[in-house]
Amino acid sequence: MYGYGKAVLSAGNPQVVVVSNRGAYVLQEHGDTLIPKRTVGGLASAVEPVLTDYGGTWISWCGRLDNSGRKTGAMLEVPQADPRYHIQEVLLTEEEHTRYYHGFCNACLWPLLHQLPERCTFRQDYWEAYRLVNRKFARITLQTRKEIYWIHDFHLALVPQFLRCALPEAKIAFFWHVPFPPADFFQILPWGRQLIYGLLGSDLIAFHTPQYAQNFLETVARYYPVKIFREQGLIRFRNRRIIVSAIPVGINFHRFEQLAADPKVRLRAQEIRNSLGAEKILLGVDRMDYTKGIPQRLKALAHLLEQHPGYRGKVTLLQIAVPSRNGLGEYGALRQEVERLVGEINGHFDEVQGAIPVRYRYQSLDLPELVAHYLAADVLLVTALRDGLNLVAKEFVASRIDGRGVLVLSQFAGAAQELQGAVLANPHEPHDLARKIKTALEMPLPEQRSRLEAMRRVVKNHDVRWWWQSHFKIIKSLYPGTIPTPSAARL
Ligand code: F6P
Repeated sequence: MYGYGKAVLSAGNPQVVVVSNRGAYVLQEHGDTLIPKRTVGGLASAVEPVLTDYGGTWISWCGRLDNSGRKTGAMLEVPQADPRYHIQEVLLTEEEHTRYYHGFCNACLWPLLHQLPERCTFRQDYWEAYRLVNRKFARITLQTRKEIYWIHDFHLALVPQFLRCALPEAKIAFFWHVPFPPADFFQILPWGRQLIYGLLGSDLIAFHTPQYAQNFLETVARYYPVKIFREQGLIRFRNRRIIVSAIPVGINFHRFEQLAADPKVRLRAQEIRNSLGAEKILLGVDRMDYTKGIPQRLKALAHLLEQHPGYRGKVTLLQIAVPSRNGLGEYGALRQEVERLVGEINGHFDEVQGAIPVRYRYQSLDLPELVAHYLAADVLLVTALRDGLNLVAKEFVASRIDGRGVLVLSQFAGAAQELQGAVLANPHEPHDLARKIKTALEMPLPEQRSRLEAMRRVVKNHDVRWWWQSHFKIIKSLYPGTIPTPSAARL
């Protein structure tokens, strides 16, 4: 666990306001009492250590809908047992939640940014709700004065400019967690220019890969006659300097290593293996989302079993599908499709003896259970059609302290830039994917070990602390002398 004691927290360390649509907690009502309940997710686990180390405030929607017209939600200290930072809730009305979150964020921006335009719904009322909710987040953020404002993800692209207008001297960093598509593609968005203008309120705009950063710079150039220094990742906009950089999210490497060495977790991994009764285990862990390529993965498995019958009864795919965005029809339809495919494959390829081809679980896993699954697998399949980064790939690599295991990774996931030891595959092409799965299943141990070693070095060096320290160093370089150095923290 990272962290200062409480006394150090109050001793004037750099304090951050994190602003994101979803935070590390939702609030549950029990009579008159509000109970903070932890959420699971990449954004939450990457961002939280900075607040537990330095204190500060996390402003987010905490899962409650409220039509009473109240201006702000609750403010609490978390974790309740050992308070480290504040959460400030943003309340959404039902209509805002439908039009902003389900509408503009998930039915318009999400598919667009993942380059799936046929899935986009462009509606003026969605856009208006997005503006309104971004303004609401900004208004609540302005009530909290701290050294750095750190805004997250495509849900809140307009917040930096709203803050800049009210606080011209504010230090604002923005992290974009999803892919940023090529300029031609982004321009499909009818409100693209306004969205870019919103982001340009930041001092730093960071992405997972250099390609996303270049796509962003190109897009800015299409909308605004500004000076762009591509090599340096610098924009001069209205007498301000804006840094555009690639800083891929890291994970808490040591935590995964620790859990992977825990005898209880190792025992659980063995139990999982035994329960599947397979010689080789393929694992998939994804949110149930159409960008994750779960049907494509299942089709590739069917292809493999068709072409190489020797694998039948010997190989099992264990697919964990984490429930997500249930309010959207497409997500329900995807679940049905996945479950139909699982049934078909199991019906078609099940042998009288041996392992079942696919074991499917629609649930989320806590961290020890997740690591036990990573340890139980021979091969992790990450077959996203497009993915900003994919933290699951990094978590698997960090957990494999035994030097065994193969990562099959979509060439369209941002993590493919860093994890060169993975077996890269094209998820759109079932033959290619099936071939790559076969390569992974048959990879000799020394090769597994050397590929993992290379990937573990990268994941360890670019861990979660490196990620947020990199942001603060850049902000510090823009405002020399004003921000304490993060590396002074006891980590
Ligand atoms: O990674 C992109 C992202 O939108 C995160 O911001 C979010 O935590 C995750 O996907 C899950 O999405 P949602 O918050 O819509 O459940």
